[in-house]
Amino acid sequence: MARAYREVMSAEGRVAKFHAPEILFGFGALPEAATAAMGLGARRPLVVTDPWLELTPWPGTVVDELTSRGAEPVVWSDVRPNPRASQILEGAQTYHSSGCDVIVAVGGGSVIDAAKGVALVVSNGGHVLEYEGVDRVRLPLPPVVAVPTTAGSGADVSQFCVVNDSDRLTKVTIVSRSLVPDVTVIDPGTHATVPEDVRAATAVDVLSHGVEAYFSRAAGPLTDSHALRSVELCARSLDRFGLGGSNGGGHGRDRLESMALASLEAGMAFSNAVLGAVHAMSHPVGGRYDASHGQINGILLSHVVRHNGAVMDPDRMADLARAAGVAVGSRAGQVTDRVADRFRDLAESVGIPTGLTHLGVRGEDIPTLAAHALRDLCMATNPRPVTLEDVERLYREAS
Ligand SMILES: [Fe+2]
Repeated sequence: MARAYREVMSAEGRVAKFHAPEILFGFGALPEAATAAMGLGARRPLVVTDPWLELTPWPGTVVDELTSRGAEPVVWSDVRPNPRASQILEGAQTYHSSGCDVIVAVGGGSVIDAAKGVALVVSNGGHVLEYEGVDRVRLPLPPVVAVPTTAGSGADVSQFCVVNDSDRLTKVTIVSRSLVPDVTVIDPGTHATVPEDVRAATAVDVLSHGVEAYFSRAAGPLTDSHALRSVELCARSLDRFGLGGSNGGGHGRDRLESMALASLEAGMAFSNAVLGAVHAMSHPVGGRYDASHGQINGILLSHVVRHNGAVMDPDRMADLARAAGVAVGSRAGQVTDRVADRFRDLAESVGIPTGLTHLGVRGEDIPTLAAHALRDLCMATNPRPVTLEDVERLYREAS
C-alpha cells in the first residue's frame, strides 16, 4: 500500500503533506477545551470570543471549567465580524499585559482567525499584515485551542488566518503550518445557538471549501476524500434538514452533527489543498463592503464552477457530481452545468441572495475588486488560469 502511494506521488512529481490538529468531536465535548488548555500548560489562558457569543452559555462554560481546574482565565471579547488588523493588536496587548500563556478561541471563523492573529503577533512581533503570504511565520506560536461554535469556517483546523486590511479594503490571507491550532474541540451542541441567517451562510461556505479544495491545483490523494465527503455531507444535510431543527433534538441533533462533520472535512481538505477563485474573489468583497463571507461565496460558487468546468477532468467532475447528488450523464459539459445549477439551487434554498448587488456591490467598484482578487493568494491554486477580464466578467455575471 505504502509502495503504491509512493509510486503515484513520484509519478506526479510531487510529495503531499497533510497538517491537522488534535481533534475532539462529539456532543458534550465542550469542557474538553479546558482539559486541552491545561494539558498545554495554561495558567492564565486568554479566552477569545465575541459580544454575541457572550450571550450564549459557551464561553462561560469554558471559563468556569478552566477556573475549576485552577487556571485564571482572562476574557477578550472585542472581536467583530471580519476582524481588522487593529483589533488583533488590541488582543495582543491584552495577552501581554495580562501575562497570558495559552489562547482558547470560542467562536466562529472571525473569533478563531483573530485568536490566531493574536498568537502570531505575541510570538513573532510586528504587525499582523506583515505576515501576508505563505510560510512567513518564523517563531513558534503559543498553544491555541479552538472551539468552533459554527459549522463553517474551518479555521479551527486550517493553516489559514484571514484578516481585514481596512486601508486596502480587502482581506489578507496568511498561511503557515504554525497557524494550525494545537487542538480543536468540536461540540455540535454549541451550534444550536447559531441564528438561521448565519447558519445558511456558514453552510454554503462549507460547500465552497469542499468544492474549491477538490478543484484546486494543489489537490491530491490526501485531500480529495475529505473534499468529496464534505460536499456529500453538506448537500445531503441541506436536502434532508434545510436549516431547521436548531433545538438539538431529533433531526436537529442529526443535522448539527452532520454539518459539523462536513465543516471539519472541508476544513482539513482546504487547509492542505488551498482554495480557488471563489475565495480569491470573495475576500475583496468582504473587505470592502463588510459583507458575509458565506453569502458572497454562495453567490459566486456556481459561476466559478461553470468557468472552471472547462478544464476539469470529466471523471473528477463526475465524482464531484455524484457527491453533490447530481445524476451523471454522458457529456462532460452538461455535468458541469448540472453541478453549477445544483450549487446555485442549494444556496438559494437556504436564502442566500441571488446576486452581489444585494450585498451592496457596485458596478463601478468591479475593476478594483478584480485587481485585488487577481493578487489574492487563493487564486494561485484555481485550476483554470484567469485574466483580469475573466474576473471582471465573473463579478458582473454574479451581480
Ligand atoms: Fe471560506
